[in-house]
This record gives sequence, structure tokens and C-alpha cells, in this order.
Amino acid sequence: MNSIKKIGILTGGGDCSGLNAVITGITKTAITTYGLEVVGYRRGYFGLYHNDHQVLDLKAISGTMHEGGTMLKSSNKDNLFNFRMVDENGQVTYKDVSDVAIENMRKLGVDALVVIGGDGTLTSARDFARKGVPVVGVPKTIDNDLPATDMTFGYSTSLENIVDALDKIHTTAYSHDRVMVVEVMGRHTGWLALEGGTGGSADVILIPEIPYDIHKIVQKINERKAMGKEFSIIVVSEGAKPVGGEIVVRETVEDSADKVRLGGVGDVVTRQIAKLLPETEVRYTNLAYIQRGGIATQFDRNIGLRFGYHAVELLMRGDSGKMVRYEGRTITSIDLEDVVGRGATGETSKGGAKHVDPKGQIVTAAKALGISFGD
Ligand code: F6P
Repeated sequence: MNSIKKIGILTGGGDCSGLNAVITGITKTAITTYGLEVVGYRRGYFGLYHNDHQVLDLKAISGTMHEGGTMLKSSNKDNLFNFRMVDENGQVTYKDVSDVAIENMRKLGVDALVVIGGDGTLTSARDFARKGVPVVGVPKTIDNDLPATDMTFGYSTSLENIVDALDKIHTTAYSHDRVMVVEVMGRHTGWLALEGGTGGSADVILIPEIPYDIHKIVQKINERKAMGKEFSIIVVSEGAKPVGGEIVVRETVEDSADKVRLGGVGDVVTRQIAKLLPETEVRYTNLAYIQRGGIATQFDRNIGLRFGYHAVELLMRGDSGKMVRYEGRTITSIDLEDVVGRGATGETSKGGAKHVDPKGQIVTAAKALGISFGD
């Protein structure tokens, strides 16, 4: 008989749609199937450290499953194994406070954790597993860049948001004969730009995996004009960079697992095109957080619920230290040791991020349709 009576849940890293579906999947399975108690720690590991929690029962989660964001709130800079402390003189030090979190769990009677997040959050889950805490991880990203899972929740809703925005931006592009540059997220991978761009009828898609030449972009705009198409839509991934050039960094956040925040390459591309095509109106839109929020798609709801169910199953089987993942159309699991590796030293997830293959099917098909990648 498994000794788990109470489960704690936390969500870390950037929010996305489908997080509440995972929380619902965990809570319903834990209560309905196993008669457990469930608590949610608020603001990720910050809540675990401060013992800031709320009871999750069937009433608390009712009606939340489809909503974007996370009902538990999130934090993307609290690593309890390297926690930022500020003393009364303003002196900043970093300390391992993981034992405080484990003591908090003991006092509250929490026997096991389900940790939902990206590679920074999951690295800490692995570190808690190394200390003997029963823990299961659930992968989260809108960027589709986690190599150990075919897909996770959040990506589908973000793609819908991007396609919806491009449909709207098309109307202004057409009406004013403009070049519209639209920047999307994705960190160092181009999945959101690629599938959002193809689904939203982009004419040019710039991704980190294919460095761009600004003259090739201008050439594409001119080719379209020669065909009588006076407008062009250019989707730029935030991690895109020119041939031989660098990515554009918006800010650096020292006490975060993911220190580099990208953003602004769309503005750079816009200015360069405007300079090369002075007679053309060029406008820039950064979709930013618009693409991360909103009602979850059915895919994100379903995969979220299933991840939640399987996370509880793993814990109840005593199969801790694992991460649930989506393989084919099946939920399986993998050791956290085999998927993460970032932590305080800053290396990326094991095997690196999952990148777009510049010679793969999706890019090849897009090129065959006439979409330019600026190469
Ligand atoms: O990883 C998800 C993501 O939305 C990235 O696409 C983006 O670069 C980053 O998070 C933005 O993070 P923040 O919320 O810290 O601005």
C-alpha cells in the first residue's frame, strides 16, 4: 500500500494555457480515484519556501480547466537550491534553502510533489528527487523546445493566437499596401514562427535555425510587388539572427534559470527594410504576451488533463523522479535525470533544445509554397 495521503502541486516558469487543465487532472484523479488531499503552492517554488499554499478540492478547481494562465500563480526566478537572499544592508547572497521547503512539506503533511514547468523548474524537481522527495514533473512550454516530449500544452493555444493575429494584421497590410513585421516568441527555436507563420499565410518566416540575409527578404517583397501583391507579412522569431550576426537581447535577469530575455529583432528587421525600401510603409507588431494567454485549445486541455492523471498514477505506483511526456499519441514517462541539466550552472536541457530542422518536412513544404526564410 502506497503511503501517499497528500499531494502538493506547483507551477513554475512562464504561464501558458493548459496549466489549469493539468492542475484539474491531478486534483480530480487524486481525490476521485485515490481519496487523497491536494494542496497547491502559490507562485511556484517561492510558495514552497514560504509555505504559501491553498487547499485544492473539487470545488476549488471547478470551472478553471479551460482558462489561460495558472490559478496557482507562477514565478520564473526562484531556485531553492541557489536562492537569492537580501540582508538588511541590501547585500545579496545565494543560499541552498531546499531543506526549508522539505521541512514545510513535512509540517503540512505533504508526501509528494507534482511540479509543472520548463527546464529550470524541472531541474529543481530533479534536485528534490535526488534528496529523496517523491516528485513527478510535468513539462510545460509554449516554445515546443523541450526535446524529451513530442508536444506539451500551451504550444497549440499560442499557435492559435498567432494565426488569429496574422489574420487580423492581413487586413491592414492589404488595405494600406504595407509590409507588416510580426515578432513572435520561441526563445532559441523557431517552432512558433514556423507553424504560426505557415498557418497565418506569412510570406517570409525568420527563425533562429536559418540565419537571414536582409537583401533576400527585400527581394521577396519586390517579387510580390512585381506580381501585383503590394503587401507582405513577415513573421520573425524572437531568436532569429542575420547571417554572421547576433541575437537581440531585451534584458538579462541574473537570478533566473533562463537569464537571457529575447525581444526586439522585429524592430531591427523593420528598420532595415524601411531603409532599403524607402517608398514602402513598413510596420512592426510584437505579439509578446498576447500569444501566451487566452482560452486553452481542446488539445491543450486534453493533454493537460492526461498529464495530470498520469503524474498521479506515477506517484501512486512509487515511480518518482520521472517526468510525464507525450510520445506519438501516448503518455509515457522518462527519468528527470535524463531530461534536464540546467540548474545553477546554466547549461541547457540534456541534448540541447529541440530545434526546427532547416531541411525537414515543414520547412521544405513551406519553401515549396513560396515562403521565404530569408536564406
Ligand atoms: O518560454 C516561454 C516564453 O514565453 C518564451 O517564448 C519567451 O522568450 C519567454 O518565455 C518570456 O519570458 P518572460 O515572461 O520572463 O518575459
